[in-house]
Amino acid sequence: MKIGIIVGSTRNGRAGESVGQWVAKQAAERTGAEYELVDLAAYNLPMFDEATHPMMANKKYASAEVQAWSDKIDQFDGYIFITPEYNHSVPAAFKNAVDSLGSEWVGKALSLVGYGAVGGVRAIEHWRQITANFSMAVTRAEVNLSLFTDFAEGVCTPAGMQDQQLGKVFDELEQLTGAILSVAGANANA
Ligand SMILES: Cc1cc2nc3c(=O)[nH]c(=O)nc-3n(C[C@H](O)[C@H](O)[C@H](O)COP(=O)(O)O)c2cc1C
Repeated sequence: MKIGIIVGSTRNGRAGESVGQWVAKQAAERTGAEYELVDLAAYNLPMFDEATHPMMANKKYASAEVQAWSDKIDQFDGYIFITPEYNHSVPAAFKNAVDSLGSEWVGKALSLVGYGAVGGVRAIEHWRQITANFSMAVTRAEVNLSLFTDFAEGVCTPAGMQDQQLGKVFDELEQLTGAILSVAGANANA
């Protein structure tokens, strides 16, 4: 089972990169799934402008950048979204990246790692609503990193309990992803 850890902030000097490194470091020690760090900033996605609704696009896009993004996202069975909170919601660049695709996301498992003044909770709750449109299955377990206690000079330096909480996220996400894959396998063999 393959899980993509998506760093969803793209701005210069972002703290998100160091959050991604923290998550990826613990993920590398897991044996239940294969994890890969995906940096949204590297894809240089255009502001969504495809003529065809992504859900109708059959994973074929006019933009080479969107196609590369689709090809990468399609490789995974589940995801961890690493999300900052911008103006009490999700970052626009990350929402644009999610809107740009369709069936690549459908029915897959998801966990959320948020950060902000109050742990990114408003962004996380919005992601739960947004991803419902793709019938994604989202774990209850999440990580809420505080800008005040889990970062030093913009770099993620999480307190002890956060390592444990991230472990819970991996446990739930691997269980949920495995369950989805086994139902899909059973349906294919029926
Ligand atoms: C445009 C913008 C809006 C923000 N709005 C919020 C907010 O509503 N709530 C919050 O907790 N932090 C907010 N912040 C602070 C971010 O949580 C903090 O800057 C964080 O480092 C952003 O993630 P990034 O560095 O990976 O981009 C905002 C930051 C920016 C740049």
